[in-house]
Amino acid sequence: MIPVILAGGSGTRLWPMSRELYPKQLLAMTGACTMLQQTLMRLDGIADLEPPVVLCNETYRYGIARQLRQIGVHGFELILEPVGRNTAPAIAVAALKAMSRSEDEQILVLPADHLIRDAVAFHKAVGTAAAFARQGYLTTFGVVPQSPETGYGYIRKGPAVDTGGAGAGKPEAFAISRFVEKPDLETAQQYLDSGQYCWNSGMFLFQAADIWEEVKHFAPDMADACSLAIKHGRVENDALFLDPGAFGRCRSDSIDYSVMEKTAKGVMVPLDAGWSDLGSWAAMWECGTRDENGNVCTGDVWVEKTKNSLVFSQSRLVAAAGIRDLVIVETADAVLVADRTRSQEVKSVVSGLKARN
Ligand code: GDD
Ligand code: MG
Repeated sequence: MIPVILAGGSGTRLWPMSRELYPKQLLAMTGACTMLQQTLMRLDGIADLEPPVVLCNETYRYGIARQLRQIGVHGFELILEPVGRNTAPAIAVAALKAMSRSEDEQILVLPADHLIRDAVAFHKAVGTAAAFARQGYLTTFGVVPQSPETGYGYIRKGPAVDTGGAGAGKPEAFAISRFVEKPDLETAQQYLDSGQYCWNSGMFLFQAADIWEEVKHFAPDMADACSLAIKHGRVENDALFLDPGAFGRCRSDSIDYSVMEKTAKGVMVPLDAGWSDLGSWAAMWECGTRDENGNVCTGDVWVEKTKNSLVFSQSRLVAAAGIRDLVIVETADAVLVADRTRSQEVKSVVSGLKARN
């Protein structure tokens, strides 16, 4: 099994900490290691893993290679994209490359910027997903939801799917009845109350040949562009530079939209492992260590009569008094102050700032 790590996103909702040149996955958002390093370290204990393949923009090549070596990961391969085309082309390229090693090679697709607290539960779910993938299923990990998050996609569970051999008890996988990408709050609350939905984690396990078949079937133009991008790509040491012409012409789309919503081969393996994609400052607050007033403070910070806030300082002393439910993030060149419950809106702040420049 090859771990395929998606490290191409720019994580705009964690501005001003996460920037184009220093995206979330390359930063130590929780603890001493970066999100990318944590993603690889938590694989320790899964049997029969090949060295990882990391897909990212050319810009991050050296930063990523350095971070991998720092934690003792060697023999990895980097697949470098000249431009971001979202997750479907990245996964298609990784699948095609994996097939050239072995026809029944499995790939474990993992975004590089997720937090998983319970590695043992994660390993168990990977084992279950591998069993389904061996039978030709395209498995996605569905996270048992804890709150009506609007930053995630949702998967509606279909009937339980039998592994054909697993004992009685809790179903290990479900058919996928539908996908809904980032619903509004009211809809997300209905999904949560119904007990029928899981969060779409964006992590997958499949046989490379099976996902490639589905990409060819549902997105033939993308499959063509991806195989040309590899064929005309350039290999330099541990890196494959995808051909800019072919990859540039490829349509941008997520694997959820282009394949998982359409395929009849999808199953969802539930994951209850303290997962978060740390996609917003609100998620950082949720996952952080809160003091007795519900505050998460990082860096040189002083708070008085402050409640349920996240105060983060990188380069200066930050003091807050008499506030509640706020996010304050200080970096050397920018400061964010936002309502904690509306921190998804940071994304539009970033687009506004880009348009201003
Ligand atoms: N290599 C590569 N190239 N990676 C990419 C690209 C790309 O062009 N675009 C995105 N990624 C990586 C990101 O780094 C991230 O790890 C992952 O793919 C998902 O992309 P995001 O941009 O973070 O998507 P999202 O968080 O808005 O939504 C997706 O993930 C959620 C879970 O974290 C969707 O799949 C949601 O349905 C899902 O709930
Ligand atoms: Mg994300």
